[in-house]
Amino acid sequence: MNLLITGGAGFIGSNFTRYIARKHPDWKIIVLDKLNYRGRRENLLEVEGRLKFHFIHGDICIEGDVAPLLPGIDWVINFAAETFVDRSIMSANDFVRTDVLGVFTIMEAMREHSPEGRLLHLSTDEVYGEILKGKAGEDWPLAPRNPYSASKAGGEMLVSSYINTHNFAAIIARPSNNFGPHQFPENFIPLFITNALEKKPLPLYGDGRQVRDWLFVEDCCVALEMLMEKGELGEVYNIGGGEERENILVAELICQELGVDKKAIKLVKDRPGHDRRYALDSGRLASLGWAPSKPFEERLTETVRWYVENVDWWKPLKSGEYKEFYRQWYGERL
Ligand SMILES: NC(=O)c1ccc[n+]([C@@H]2O[C@H](COP(=O)([O-])OP(=O)(O)OC[C@H]3O[C@@H](n4cnc5c(N)ncnc54)[C@H](O)[C@@H]3O)[C@@H](O)[C@H]2O)c1
Repeated sequence: MNLLITGGAGFIGSNFTRYIARKHPDWKIIVLDKLNYRGRRENLLEVEGRLKFHFIHGDICIEGDVAPLLPGIDWVINFAAETFVDRSIMSANDFVRTDVLGVFTIMEAMREHSPEGRLLHLSTDEVYGEILKGKAGEDWPLAPRNPYSASKAGGEMLVSSYINTHNFAAIIARPSNNFGPHQFPENFIPLFITNALEKKPLPLYGDGRQVRDWLFVEDCCVALEMLMEKGELGEVYNIGGGEERENILVAELICQELGVDKKAIKLVKDRPGHDRRYALDSGRLASLGWAPSKPFEERLTETVRWYVENVDWWKPLKSGEYKEFYRQWYGERL
């Protein structure tokens, strides 16, 4: 099997690359990544130097970066995206560019240079908008409510349109909130773990009662692999961990895990347009034989341990530009 993994230096993409390289040492893997502030070469250290691994520094929005990599590729797995909602509120430019134009560029290049290739495209549960009751099935209408989720919805609707119009060979995956090793320390769980380790306040939006449907990153990788093996081309698949928790409970668990006083949790002004709840019905994926491997609390303990043991990985990421963003975004809130 020959894979092109776009955005493979980021959080889920690098976990997926390492997972596939371990499980299928004979598969050829090319990672194409722009290395934005979240894309880290060091996330791929485990696979660098392998005979069948190649890293290419490039941009999915540039046809000339994508097209030469395509001949002979069986699957393109597109993780490449601008992903942090808070930053999309500050400026949505890069989000619209990569999450919409980038997807278009990949598909056009595939149509010309790898007509036999298939695309596994990463969308998100956020495209449904907030789900106050029930669990979203794949046929629910899309109702994104922030610039990140709107860009992701735009990208995946283009994929759907190509499936419908051009008989384009693609599967769309909509995972819920991932957590685990190598997640950039601005997302909720790694931010709270690393702030707690640095004895800084843990800024929790609003009343902290928002609900997320947590999915351990390795379970997401297993699901994506299963979609390549058994998924139906042209279909959409939710990937939900089924582990709904209020943010405040997760924050308290992190404090408990690290022996930090819960008073470190500081309720701050909510972010605009904050979705109250996400919840997915993953029955379609379950019918292929997928299920999350361990309970949320166990995986959270493992994740906390990873950040405790890998200070050298996250500490440098919280300096420079990150500090400036943090000051601008949380400055008045804290
Ligand atoms: N993290 C989650 O909880 C979650 C949940 C659902 C869906 N998703 C989706 O999964 C995918 C991966 O998410 P993540 O959390 O790993 O994101 P991430 O931000 O950690 O990684 C994204 C990667 O894409 C790269 N990239 C950005 N723009 C690029 C461009 N123009 N060309 C090439 N590479 C580019 C970045 O350098 C980075 O390595 C995204 O599509 C995201 O929307 C994530």
